[in-house]
Amino acid sequence: MDMKIIAVAVAKGGVGKSMVTRSLATAAALAGMNVLAIDMDTQQTTTQWGRRRTNPLPLVRFSTENDLSDELGRARAAGCELVLIDTPPARSSEAPAAVEVADYVLIPCSADIEAFEQLPRTARLARTSGIPAAAILNLATPNSRSEEEAARGVFEALELRMAPSVLHRYKVHRDAARMGLSAQEIEPDSKAAAEIAALWVWICAELHISTSALVHKEVV
Ligand SMILES: Nc1ncnc2c1ncn2[C@@H]1O[C@H](COP(=O)(O)OP(=O)(O)OP(=O)(O)O)[C@@H](O)[C@H]1O
Ligand SMILES: [Mg+2]
Repeated sequence: MDMKIIAVAVAKGGVGKSMVTRSLATAAALAGMNVLAIDMDTQQTTTQWGRRRTNPLPLVRFSTENDLSDELGRARAAGCELVLIDTPPARSSEAPAAVEVADYVLIPCSADIEAFEQLPRTARLARTSGIPAAAILNLATPNSRSEEEAARGVFEALELRMAPSVLHRYKVHRDAARMGLSAQEIEPDSKAAAEIAALWVWICAELHISTSALVHKEVV
């Protein structure tokens, strides 16, 4: 299988770039994939999460922009099937560098005006690179549809696709982060875990990753 690269990027801070990276990387590892999470944020949120994990999978590596190409080369040589790149907030050179090498850009966004304001820049970045991109509504209020409708309108106006799986605000994501785990590992039957599972299935289809060919392994 060709190595697929997903860049997770948006300038707005705190909208779930690292959570989406961690959760999808964990989903891939649970599905038996050879997956690598690359952390390009000097805050090292994802790197620290990796250090808190007792399970060595998914592999997490910090990389600067200068080392990215070598890091990807090593991953490819090691038979890596999927790379998720977590990027820093604000205007950075890391996000464009990640988007440049990516096959797909995932743009997490909360239903807040401040987050919406930051979308055009990232959407433009993906568009100029000519690679597919989709916004993921994250931190939506559970049991409310109004935020989803508002976000859908904003994404449509920017001609940005919306991932069909909306991620709501659930404490389990924060509890999991603290433990170096993901929602599906600490509460596999939770709504949060189901949303991540749906997001995973959708992104696999987008990237033509055949999940049926994957061996399901117990990672925990
Ligand atoms: N759906 C969710 N429900 C509850 N908490 C969430 C959810 N998504 C993210 N969080 C929490 O919100 C905080 C910010 O999320 P995260 O670190 O993933 O955002 P980020 O975009 O990577 O931030 P930064 O821009 O600083 O890198 C974290 O504490 C995370 O655990
Ligand atoms: Mg982050």
